[in-house]
Amino acid sequence: MAVQFSLLFVCLGNICRSPTAEGVFRARAHGAGLADRLHIDSAGTGSWHVGKAPDPRSQAAALRRGYDLSSLRARQVVPGDFTRFDLILAMDEENLDSLMQLAPARRVAPIELVLRYATRTPLAEVPDPYAGGSDGFERVLDLLEDAADGLLASVQERMR
Ligand code: 4NP
Repeated sequence: MAVQFSLLFVCLGNICRSPTAEGVFRARAHGAGLADRLHIDSAGTGSWHVGKAPDPRSQAAALRRGYDLSSLRARQVVPGDFTRFDLILAMDEENLDSLMQLAPARRVAPIELVLRYATRTPLAEVPDPYAGGSDGFERVLDLLEDAADGLLASVQERMR
């Protein structure tokens, strides 16, 4: 079946938050029978970790909830992403600002904060867990699982 809608999750390093978002949303899409109709990817605004697998702490926390992130590899956002994807989802305001600066002037996919789709948190941003303790990685998963539910409903609506 042809891909009908494409989403790109973006954070700073593409080794903690956005690969987690990709894994969670991919699982949700699969559960809804939409895996073949969606293209789901992630990228970082920074280049430090290009080519690396997700942070071991992100992988371990995700795997405990059934999301296998081991095959993902970090890449940096490229100009073509802004026209190739239908929707770009940033983890925090800093990512959003960086994306706005990188985006070409025309025909750009909507760029939104991913937590606008969350219904069970007042937070607007997914906190960067990289420099913190293990709690941060669980929190990232909690927030992204919340957002994934609302995002899936919104994507289904857009594909009608
Ligand atoms: P992420 O976390 O943006 O969620 O992948 C980070 C990973 C690495 C760095 C910062 C944030 N770093 O500065 O290396």
